[in-house]
Amino acid sequence: MTDKFLAIETTFLQEMANANSTQQLQEVKVKYLGKSGEVTLLLRGIKDYPAEQRPEIGNKINELRKKLEALLDEKTAALQQNELTAKLNSQRVDVSLTSSPQAGTIHPITMVKNEISNLLVTMGFEVLEGPEIETDYYNFQALNIPQDHPARDMQDTFYIAPGILLRTQTSPMQARLMEVKKPPIKMIAPGKVYRSDSDASHSPVFNQIEGLVVDENITLCDLKGTLEYLAQNLFSKDTKVRFRPSYFPFTEPSVEVDLTCSNCGGKGCSLCKGTGWIEVLGAGMVNPQVLENCGVDSQRYTGFAFGLGVERIAMIKYGIPDIRLFYENDVRFLRQFKK
Ligand code: DAH
Repeated sequence: MTDKFLAIETTFLQEMANANSTQQLQEVKVKYLGKSGEVTLLLRGIKDYPAEQRPEIGNKINELRKKLEALLDEKTAALQQNELTAKLNSQRVDVSLTSSPQAGTIHPITMVKNEISNLLVTMGFEVLEGPEIETDYYNFQALNIPQDHPARDMQDTFYIAPGILLRTQTSPMQARLMEVKKPPIKMIAPGKVYRSDSDASHSPVFNQIEGLVVDENITLCDLKGTLEYLAQNLFSKDTKVRFRPSYFPFTEPSVEVDLTCSNCGGKGCSLCKGTGWIEVLGAGMVNPQVLENCGVDSQRYTGFAFGLGVERIAMIKYGIPDIRLFYENDVRFLRQFKK
């Protein structure tokens, strides 16, 4: 019996020495003192001894149990202290550090919108904002797009009520300004516009920047110079601007404006579909009818106007293949624009 006690105590001491976490120590405790632990089994075995020996054996087993318990308690306390110290060290809070929550970033569309606006402001344009819920009159009629004009098909419109709609373009700001301000006029109107259209390159809500210059002797050359300055500062110094004839009811003549491809510099690549040019915006000379609609003397004044899509410029500038990426607000996408 004594041999058995000794054997148990020896293996217990070894295993306890090897345990170097409270978790491992707990396992040792279970193995020896748990419900079916070695010492507990000894106690249960007492019944197999002759009655007169039982008290003495019982006492010895209890002594052994107490001894092991004391040893375990002692080591548990020491390990707990170690573990607490380690935890405190690893989770140390340096209260002297200024807190630095992860800073957000400016949205790429806002970034590009600001960049374009700032460039135009340095050229003397004033910035104007107008209503996103617009009347049929300002969105279409004042801009020489009467009811039932086929050009309305170019812009799938969200109507709110008869004669009230979500503006499909920032162009109504041309009419709104000319009604209240006499030339010289030099303004841009950035803002959201809405169309019932959705795919990889169209979004039901997107951003435009409208530009309008009205004064005496304004020509298409002024438009070209303005856009050249803008393009060369937005992309690169050697960007070239090309006009192609187009049609908008509110400009005459109208042009589509192409830039030499910012990706290949005009040699031809997949972005520009091998042409070396990328279409970026619509523009033209303000239709005299629009000037007259807004009370501007079309005999004395001429003007140019342009309207660009901010998303389109941002997609070209950053090589973004799908417009929807801008609105998903996946932080992994947005973080790439951190300055
Ligand atoms: N408003 C036009 C559109 O959304 C873009 C545009 C074209 C604006 C020519 C202009 C312009 O001011 O002159 O499709």
